[in-house]
Amino acid sequence: MSGARVRTAVLISGRGSNLKSLIDACAASDYPAEIVLVISNVEIAGGLQFARDAGIPTRVIPHKPYPTREAFDAEIDRALREADVALVCEAGFMRIHSAWFAERWAGRILNIHPSLLPKFPGIRVHEQVLAAGETESGATVHYLTADLDSGPIIAQARVPVLPGDTPETLAARVLEVEHKLYPEAVRMVAERNT
Ligand code: GAR
Repeated sequence: MSGARVRTAVLISGRGSNLKSLIDACAASDYPAEIVLVISNVEIAGGLQFARDAGIPTRVIPHKPYPTREAFDAEIDRALREADVALVCEAGFMRIHSAWFAERWAGRILNIHPSLLPKFPGIRVHEQVLAAGETESGATVHYLTADLDSGPIIAQARVPVLPGDTPETLAARVLEVEHKLYPEAVRMVAERNT
């Protein structure tokens, strides 16, 4: 496999700024991963445009028509296998996976979460951080497992919580470090796989 770039898919649901940071990282000739597919469960996800602009194939797979998590995940799994994907990066993908899917992709699927896990898993993260009176927060890239936001941690970055912060100002500060952290973490993981 030496010299080959790890075939990577990115799963999104929205804005896609982390997807954009990964696309930009992959533009470097020495980056060990390439994005070969972007999947969104939301048809109007803004991030799809970043993929189209970069000439990356996209798939929209809305979750609503599927009767169960497993059925939806089976369709995602099929798309990933059709594209011969070796690594999956969740970047603001706001669906919880079935245990079946998490186990099938174990060790080959990463997620980014906007807190210093294991603190503040789940949703409304920045609200929770501020309500708890934390003085720092950050972002975590971890392996996805069947338990939400609980898989082995690959990398973290810290930011201060400042007086007067709102969920929006804190989210923006965390997002800035996410954009460096995710490409670094994917590099580390991909280098182990080439
Ligand atoms: C990011 O802050 C990411 O960490 C978070 O959603 C945002 C997506 O932004 N993910 C989660 O909360 C997952 N539980 P983006 O669409 O601009 O990359």
